[in-house]
Amino acid sequence: MEHLINRRVRDIQVSGIRKFANRVAQYPDAISLTIGQPDFQTPEHVKDAGKRAIDENKTTYTPNAGLPALREAASQFLARKYGLNYDPEQEILVTNGASEAIDITLRTILEEGCEVILPGPVYPGYEPILRLCGAVPVHVDTTNNGFRMTAELIRPHLTEKTRCIILPYPANPTGCTLSKEELEELAELLEGREIFILSDEIYSELVYDGSHHSIATHSGVRHQTIVINGLSKSHSMTGWRIGFTFAPAYLTQQMVKVHQYNVSCASSISQYAAIEALTRGIDDAEAMKREYRKRRDYAYERLKGMGFDIIQPQGAFYLFPSIQRFHLSSFDFATKLLEQERVAVVPGDAFSRYGEGYIRISYACSLETLERAMERIERFVQKLDGA
Ligand SMILES: Cc1ncc(COP(=O)(O)O)c(C=O)c1O
Repeated sequence: MEHLINRRVRDIQVSGIRKFANRVAQYPDAISLTIGQPDFQTPEHVKDAGKRAIDENKTTYTPNAGLPALREAASQFLARKYGLNYDPEQEILVTNGASEAIDITLRTILEEGCEVILPGPVYPGYEPILRLCGAVPVHVDTTNNGFRMTAELIRPHLTEKTRCIILPYPANPTGCTLSKEELEELAELLEGREIFILSDEIYSELVYDGSHHSIATHSGVRHQTIVINGLSKSHSMTGWRIGFTFAPAYLTQQMVKVHQYNVSCASSISQYAAIEALTRGIDDAEAMKREYRKRRDYAYERLKGMGFDIIQPQGAFYLFPSIQRFHLSSFDFATKLLEQERVAVVPGDAFSRYGEGYIRISYACSLETLERAMERIERFVQKLDGA
């Protein structure tokens, strides 16, 4: 009966991160730098709000779009932090993490044969969904442009079939961001074209140099932009599954239908905790950001000192050094590093073929762990250089 299963589902590849994680599981003593989630606890006051919601029996369905108070809080959070203005009643949806936000956005706007432009390397969460919609991914090679997908790089890929551009900055796996000027140029390029912009801003609270800018602040493209954000990274709430879409009413009205028949609503308990996070916890990310920044500076300097070709990331919690000088595939490099020095990193090809020749190092771990890992990586690299 397997042949009867939807071909597009059968064609989805197991994520490269997952594949490598299975290998890492065979080395329980390894130091893992593969983590894609914060190593901090959810703030106590947010956890308390979740516990209170349970004790007060706030455990029923909520409106499909999410609790009005949470949409209001999300609207104010975005206005205060990024100068974005979205109507909580008409333009905001509460989703099950940014993942579901990506899913309902793509399923609302894509059809058979549409093209979707996205950077390469890129977070692996988009491609399977757009393929399920029958759309075609068009990767833009950003490897010679500091991993930044700028207007200049996008222009030659625009065709009559282009339906959407995915703009995930600050980026996973590279930690790169786009400057205000680069976003302005992109907005100018896309304004007036019948192309949607999915702006995944899940790492917006983790920008170390300067501040985060959203393309949706450019009035010329606001009506074609869907901003995605959530609490997974900003408030260390990956397991609570709270994300958001911010999009014009004509889009939100359609997206809510996909969301409703998919999940009804996000968890009520998590939504009450999220209200706390976005009101009394509006600056909770600051302390975590200071820590991440220290780790970024440390790991970046260490890797540079070892001779890695590496771009200093400005956001998120990843480094993406090139390993091309070792003439090993990223999978072989990561496997040898794991086997010989018990350090786990993610092979770059998990992030599309444009990630081949790189590895992703996450610094969502203590500085002490990072120090131990860097010692081991240094030893490994010295051995490779001497070989
Ligand atoms: C760029 C990007 N978007 C979305 C997500 C998914 O976030 P969530 O856990 O809120 O579904 C991740 C998770 O790692 C991510 O890196």
